[in-house]
Amino acid sequence: MNPLNAVIARTLPFVPRGIVRRVASRYVAGETLADAVETVRRLNAERCLATLDVLGEDVVRFSETEETVAEYRRALDAIAENRLDANISVKLTALGLKLDPARCREHFRRIVDGAAAQGIFVRIDMEDSSVTDETLRTYYESGRTTDRVGLVLQAYLRRSRDDARRAAAVRASVRVCKGIYVEPPEIAYQGRQEIRDNFDALVEDLLVAGSAVGIATHDEWLVEKALATITRLKLGRDAYEFQMLLGVRGDLRRRLVAAGHRVRVYVPYGRSWYAYSLRRLKENPAIAGNVLRGLLRRGR
Ligand code: FDA
Repeated sequence: MNPLNAVIARTLPFVPRGIVRRVASRYVAGETLADAVETVRRLNAERCLATLDVLGEDVVRFSETEETVAEYRRALDAIAENRLDANISVKLTALGLKLDPARCREHFRRIVDGAAAQGIFVRIDMEDSSVTDETLRTYYESGRTTDRVGLVLQAYLRRSRDDARRAAAVRASVRVCKGIYVEPPEIAYQGRQEIRDNFDALVEDLLVAGSAVGIATHDEWLVEKALATITRLKLGRDAYEFQMLLGVRGDLRRRLVAAGHRVRVYVPYGRSWYAYSLRRLKENPAIAGNVLRGLLRRGR
């Protein structure tokens, strides 16, 4: 871990909220659904697709999950009413996965039903390794009733190629990402290049099997590798899409769009923006460096 990033990560909780908000505003659409709709409109005008994410995860009381479900239902209505080119992504811990998996699955079903009624796709974000099995279980259970649900596999997990084989067998729609949580070496690759190699292999395995793949990265090395695989396999434009986070590598995003590729931007919004930003920054101290860079750039 870069010592400077570690220091920044530890210091973050003491950084004034206003400053975190200023830096986070690049990565978060805002507090309200209206903010999110505005951001997606802008992205659609730039020929980008979007994914709405209602902020909030790891709830303490099950009662908190009701509001999250209601907000997702409102988000689905807003996507349909405003004719946005967008889908949604859901974190199961925000629906109470760690408190009551069975009720969490009921909540998830309500969201999927609402989405199916509007013809909108739902992706289940993948969280830390303590919930990987339960998350996949929820996916496979919902997959029986709808093909409008997708999952995420993390390239840093050693198990992911096995999970990909299972996903490929049912031609699941899969987002492949490196993985953002801190995981131990027994279950997760730690080296930058071995994670990249596994990412590349996962994308190829899934594309060869005919799965729709969301290539979620800002790493140009991986983008080039994926483009080479797509060319080699002679795939059409709807077999895959690139996915990026709001506020990150807009240059790369625009280049891919200009070259005719589908690019989807992940748009988080909600009142939990502060907790979300701090958690993200602390979980991955490498990102904490971006806070400092953000502050310095803004200071100029
Ligand atoms: P890497 O971290 O090497 O970044 C490459 C370059 O991109 C950096 O050098 C930097 O320039 C820029 N960059 C990356 N992140 C930045 C940031 N936050 N701010 C500024 N610049 C940044 N993870 C997970 O565990 N479960 C999930 O469900 C998801 N979902 C998801 C969806 C989408 C659309 C994306 C893009 C990512 C995720 N992730 C995720 C996060 C993912 O696992 C990973 O942590 C980040 O994408 C960073 O990895 P990169 O592949 O971008 O490479």
